[in-house]
Amino acid sequence: MSQIIKIFDTTLRDGEQCPGASLNHEEKLKIAKQLEKLGVDIIEAGFPIASPDDFRAVHAIAKAAKKTTICGLARAVEKDIQTAFEAIRPARKKRIHTFLATSDLHLKFKLKMTRAEALAKIAEMVKFARLKCNDVEFSPEDASRSDPKFLWKALESAIKAGAKTLNIPDTVGYATPAEFGEFIKNIRKNTRGIRGMVISVHCHDDLGLAVANSLAAVRNGARQIECTVNGIGERAGNTSLEEIVMAIRTRKDVFRNLKTNVKAKEIYRTSRLVSSLTGFVVPPNKAIVGSNAFAHESGIHQHGILAKRETYEIMKAQDIGLDKNKLVLGKHSGRAALIARMIELGFELSQKEIEKTFRRFKLLADKKKEIFDEDLEALVLNEISEAAAEWIVDGVEVISGTKKKPRAEVILKRSDGKKFRKKSGGTGPVDAAYSAVNKIIGEKVKLLEFRMDAVSEGIDAQATVAVKVETADGRTYTGKGSHTDIVVASVRSYVNALNKILAGKERMKVVL
Ligand code: KIV
Ligand code: ZN
Repeated sequence: MSQIIKIFDTTLRDGEQCPGASLNHEEKLKIAKQLEKLGVDIIEAGFPIASPDDFRAVHAIAKAAKKTTICGLARAVEKDIQTAFEAIRPARKKRIHTFLATSDLHLKFKLKMTRAEALAKIAEMVKFARLKCNDVEFSPEDASRSDPKFLWKALESAIKAGAKTLNIPDTVGYATPAEFGEFIKNIRKNTRGIRGMVISVHCHDDLGLAVANSLAAVRNGARQIECTVNGIGERAGNTSLEEIVMAIRTRKDVFRNLKTNVKAKEIYRTSRLVSSLTGFVVPPNKAIVGSNAFAHESGIHQHGILAKRETYEIMKAQDIGLDKNKLVLGKHSGRAALIARMIELGFELSQKEIEKTFRRFKLLADKKKEIFDEDLEALVLNEISEAAAEWIVDGVEVISGTKKKPRAEVILKRSDGKKFRKKSGGTGPVDAAYSAVNKIIGEKVKLLEFRMDAVSEGIDAQATVAVKVETADGRTYTGKGSHTDIVVASVRSYVNALNKILAGKERMKVVL
């Protein structure tokens, strides 16, 4: 009989924690719904104490979840645990994940606690969490740099206090695979009371080893992996969900009798959704979900593939739901056809969203003869990003060219319905338009990155623009927007990033 490796998705917590990736409430809910379709076992929906918005998002996800366990993160502090519990309360299946660092480095310099105090705190807070919730996970933060003997004691305290899942984080991505596998094996051998507990791992990718470390842990008895879609997360990111799932699936000979509950066919769609909403572009060479992951450029490879696919491919693009550039709709397609295709694409839209998307679809179909799945996704994603936005792009006009001084006029609509119009010059049409936006919103930011891609094929394709901006206090935010006009797409992405800054202002800084 196969054993299940539980997939604990932390895209909405650790993933969202990385610089630039602030998601609004609507966006988080969309991602959570897709994660449920993907079939992850646990969704770590956020860190409810961090801000009222985080709390609201976790609460909404807990309310909407049908079968997945919804987890809230909490430091080993009563107020955090209480707040996390309030946020996940509506979920059918709920989990509190509480953590305390166990390495001497963290204890001495960050927590200013002795080892004895840490053991007492773990016991006290896990017990407190268990009073609220049956399912409690404990993480000794920076476990991989902790003294193993002390770590085993810390885990023993958590077990005695009622934790059911023990998560071993490689917080700074320091471990190497053989060593980490051995580390897990020794935890299983030396921690009193560990039998029957689920051992989980949470690896960061600072040395590019997060997936390898997680798989080494699985080979040594770990049965839950914490990971994120596209591997996003603090610094270099977390273990990539799609790589873990496909490694276990593709190498059944190595991971004998092990499987996950993830529906691989939903991987590509989930990856696109997360990339679009976070604004983090997936590198073309990224394993599994990069645009080149299934592309064969060299003649020798193409010839081999044509003769027998397995010569150069170990997985099928269709396995992850990659069915590229399907022509779907056109100018004469009606509302019913649009809705049917949207459902096939996995979007659950409210009546209001359908009406708005249909209007935009018609406008797009007037400009573009063939509408691909990617176009529809871009339309909906614009819609989601604007749903709770403070500012929406209402109009953009530009003058530019080799003989003209670039000028732009931008109209933005505020959430109260009031419209604002400003004109500005610049080095080019995008610069001029951004400067007009700055005059309206009045937010001072530095543009760090600007990237434009075509949404689908053809000269009439929509453009999608991803930007990264930095605020005066050094925080970074990403934005994304699309349109058939590249300047409009650019303005949408910029306004999207500014909206995130405005929404993020209330977020308090919580020291982990
Ligand atoms: O990286 C880490 O140690 C974490 C913990 C909160 C599990 O994210
Ligand atoms: Zn982490």
